[in-house]
Amino acid sequence: MTNLSGFFRKPYQERLNLVAEYANLTEAELTTINNAFQSVGSELIENYLTDYGLPEGIATNFQVNGKDYLIPMVTEEPSVIAAASNGAKMLRDGGGITATAESRVLTGEIILKTDNVLGVQDWFEKNKDKLIEIALKAHPSITQYGGIRDIKYNMIDEEHVSFELFVDVGDAMGANTMNSMLEAAAKNIEINLGQEVLMSILSNYGDYNIVIAKGMVPFDALQRADLTGEAVARKIEEASHVANIYPKRAATHNKGIMNGIDAVVVATGNDWRAVEAATHSYAARKGSYKGLTKWRVTDNGLEGMIKLPIPTGTIGGATHLLPMSKINYQILGITGAIEMMEVLAGVGLAQNLAALKALVTDGIQRGHMRLQLKSLAMTAGAKKDEIKRVVTRLAELPDAAQNLENATRILDEIKGAN
Ligand code: MEV
Repeated sequence: MTNLSGFFRKPYQERLNLVAEYANLTEAELTTINNAFQSVGSELIENYLTDYGLPEGIATNFQVNGKDYLIPMVTEEPSVIAAASNGAKMLRDGGGITATAESRVLTGEIILKTDNVLGVQDWFEKNKDKLIEIALKAHPSITQYGGIRDIKYNMIDEEHVSFELFVDVGDAMGANTMNSMLEAAAKNIEINLGQEVLMSILSNYGDYNIVIAKGMVPFDALQRADLTGEAVARKIEEASHVANIYPKRAATHNKGIMNGIDAVVVATGNDWRAVEAATHSYAARKGSYKGLTKWRVTDNGLEGMIKLPIPTGTIGGATHLLPMSKINYQILGITGAIEMMEVLAGVGLAQNLAALKALVTDGIQRGHMRLQLKSLAMTAGAKKDEIKRVVTRLAELPDAAQNLENATRILDEIKGAN
């Protein structure tokens, strides 16, 4: 049964019936699948079943380079959007976020194995212009965006080399453009060098897609009943120092940053795996994994900075195919890929600020608790008006008793009483 050869060739209804039979899906489950069906999805991927819904919300208070933004975020994690809005508010109080994208160039590689690295280098130097010409022919329209910036020879080890292509793809995601250019150049290399190319593929190493965002948080914005704003700022500075020297903490620190960035990347139909690969390889570029932000106490407040690669685009791929993604660009109100990188870096900075502030003061659970209880109530099966009642009763229990078992018991009692 699991060997469904030719599954992809079967009409949609037949595929659905097969899955339903295999997994014993009920009528209600089939209705859920049918209701989420989107014809775009069925064109976009293979063996399409349905669209998988994730909640989308709007983060507020963002000001980047003097412009106000509403930020659409798609996430299943409670409190990410509230935290982002809270971080943005603190940064807005200090004059808003400023961000600058250093460059936006896609890199690709043709990798080959050779017993003559010097000979290959020599051939490369003589044929560099020819290779650029061939790559361009595979995608002539690229010149309207800036085109090919460079091609370089790189020795990986004594028997592996790569030719690296650098392309300005304008506002596009550019993966297909790059890969077709690389494959065209690779064919020429194979014919002329008589060497077999191992692979041709874009690189997700993001060192040519770096963006920096900065912001200042006035001490007042960090003030607490039991701690001065400056004391909280010093703790945040300390937390950022630890993330910079201790990979175990850096991983969590950066995960929090990606909570915000990924949520927008998903909302805009971008490839979030590419963004994840780029940011984490960048965080480890010095040989040890480090935090992506730095916070520093100054005379004027807490100063924050984030520096990371964000390889996203505003056209191409699924960016304008998914119905919600199209609308989300309108909500975001950005004009191009550079602006998008800058806004996303700002989101990462705000998200990190809010997380660190919570961690060094109340801890993360307090802010999460109401949302955690809500998700416990929903997991127990509570519907609209029942959710609130289950949450209220769960909140009255000691922390250790706020679990699924009690949520289920309370829900049963509520249902029994109705
Ligand atoms: C949780 O999703 C994110 C945090 O763990 C981030 C952090 O620890 O900095 C709160």
